[in-house]
Amino acid sequence: MVDLTTEYLGLALKNPLVVSASPFSKRIDRVRKLEQNGAAAVVMYSLFEEQVSYETCELNPHLSNDPLNYDQAISYYPHLAYYNLNPDEYIQHLYLLKKSVSIPVIGSINGVSSGGWLDYAQHMEQAGADAVEINLYYLPTNTDFTGADLEETYIRLVKNVKVRLTIPFAVKLHPSFSSLPNFSKKIVEAGARGLVFFNRFYQPDFDLEKLKVVPSLDLSSSQDLRLPLRWIAILFGRIPADFALSSGIHSGHDVIKAVMAGASATMLTSELLQNGIDRLGRIKDELEDWLDQHNYNSLAEIKGIMSQKNVAEPAAFERAYYLKILNNYQ
Ligand SMILES: Cc1cc2nc3c(=O)[nH]c(=O)nc-3n(C[C@H](O)[C@H](O)[C@H](O)COP(=O)(O)O)c2cc1C
Repeated sequence: MVDLTTEYLGLALKNPLVVSASPFSKRIDRVRKLEQNGAAAVVMYSLFEEQVSYETCELNPHLSNDPLNYDQAISYYPHLAYYNLNPDEYIQHLYLLKKSVSIPVIGSINGVSSGGWLDYAQHMEQAGADAVEINLYYLPTNTDFTGADLEETYIRLVKNVKVRLTIPFAVKLHPSFSSLPNFSKKIVEAGARGLVFFNRFYQPDFDLEKLKVVPSLDLSSSQDLRLPLRWIAILFGRIPADFALSSGIHSGHDVIKAVMAGASATMLTSELLQNGIDRLGRIKDELEDWLDQHNYNSLAEIKGIMSQKNVAEPAAFERAYYLKILNNYQ
């Protein structure tokens, strides 16, 4: 038997397969089924800042330089309400979920401001969450709002969460920073124990007949693995944090690549939405078989072996390779 155990955010996991924030966690029976199929932990769907602000009537813009458009946020609120429960119901659901399964449950908050809404991270801890994931996602449209402003806003939020929690927390990032290594380091210095790479951006589309901007949600494919794979490989061993790879995990091979890059946990949603919860068990088998066939006794033996600091050709992750790729194209 291959030892698949791993540690993520100080949690001992039986394997690296974690179900990422998604509607799966809305139903306790689904999470039980995920557990039966080998899930090592589950991240709950997010509690959104807009939801808490709506409930508490804190509709003032929190961001001084680039105010959130709350009218717009509220106009989308019915969708949020459909997707999520209200904040107190969310906490109650987390409590019940935690009582119903034996795997770790990670609460999730999604927002940008450092307001009272962050108390909900604390409520998640009180309800029994083993850890919290903070999804940072803001899309600036104000041309005077700088990258530094946004980074400061995020760091302030992370520091505010740190003072509220005794349990560990991870930050789920998007990849669009001028210097991801520097910003990741700052997030960890502000108190995050883990980094989740990455949030998936859902880009709106145009309806040409109605001349409307329409939301669209495309599920990922294994190709989407490459971006987080590259960044985890670059940052492994450089930043004292646990890495979780979220985006493009669809098979045992994808899990192996992620762990070889340096990930402690591999998170899935799209594959399970497309192919059902049972698929998780088969991915675990694929992972075990591959390690066995390649004479590894444990997952730990492959962790980080393909990270930038461990590969024979570190430039493969850098600009030099870009030139090589272009020149090699026939
Ligand atoms: C229907 C759906 C709902 C999601 N809800 C959340 C959420 O509430 N919070 C969050 O951080 N990510 C959410 N995600 C993003 C996933 O957690 C995950 O990061 C993303 O789907 C990429 O992983 P994948 O390639 O395995 O799908 C959602 C994704 C989907 C498809």
